[in-house]
Amino acid sequence: MPRKLFLLIFSLGVGVLGAADVPYGACKPSKDGIGRTYMGREIAQVMGHPGIGWLERSDREKEEAPSKAIALLDLAPDAVLADIGAGSGYYSFRIARKLPKGKVVAVDIQPEMIDFLKKESDKLGVKNVQPHLGTIESVQLPPASIDAALMVDAYHEFDHPVEMLASLRIALKSKGRIYLLEYRAEDDNVPIKTHHKMTEAQARKEFEAAGFKFVVNKPNLPWQHLLIFEKP
Ligand SMILES: C[S@@+](CC[C@H](N)C(=O)[O-])C[C@H]1O[C@@H](n2cnc3c(N)ncnc32)[C@H](O)[C@@H]1O
Repeated sequence: MPRKLFLLIFSLGVGVLGAADVPYGACKPSKDGIGRTYMGREIAQVMGHPGIGWLERSDREKEEAPSKAIALLDLAPDAVLADIGAGSGYYSFRIARKLPKGKVVAVDIQPEMIDFLKKESDKLGVKNVQPHLGTIESVQLPPASIDAALMVDAYHEFDHPVEMLASLRIALKSKGRIYLLEYRAEDDNVPIKTHHKMTEAQARKEFEAAGFKFVVNKPNLPWQHLLIFEKP
């Protein structure tokens, strides 16, 4: 068979196989979305590093009660927690205080966020927040290296959620927990853009498909779900 014909047939075959494996769909990009869908939702645009001021806003505690959310995390003093999509480290630095013998691995894909985290660690003299550059497809952490993972207002922006959760599953120890904080899409009174909210049902569908067991949805945060999943 001529080489060119062989290459054409081979690449068509790979293309067809690849297409069958791809879990994502496409849609017309909306204002806050990226035109890519997963399990019926359009993935949101990533919040860029100029949004650090919003993450660090002084009324965040009054609006979202992060201290209440942090109090609901069940972490041993020597736990290793990955804060995935850590941004400026609003949660990372506050949780690190609860882990005198452990640490927070603050994962983000934006080098500017990593720089901010490093400067903030130096400024605060914090030794147990470890900034860590991930990729859009992977947390880039070794197998069974973390006890728990936290994602605050971040998962809905992952443009490869399937690959991200698969890499997280590898990085978590057995029985390791995921704490997922997402703005409640069921509640019209939560003043956040639609693409940056999630329903409990949608989150459960996606995390269960990734092989995680749903444990509980902790109620009573002003704007967010705190969904807990476990690696079986
Ligand atoms: C809205 S910010 C939230 C930051 C922080 N969790 C907070 O609540 O203060 C979302 C962050 O997720 C990060 N992000 C988006 N996709 C990511 C991925 N695949 N892996 C790691 N971080 C990601 C973005 O760069 C951004 O810093």
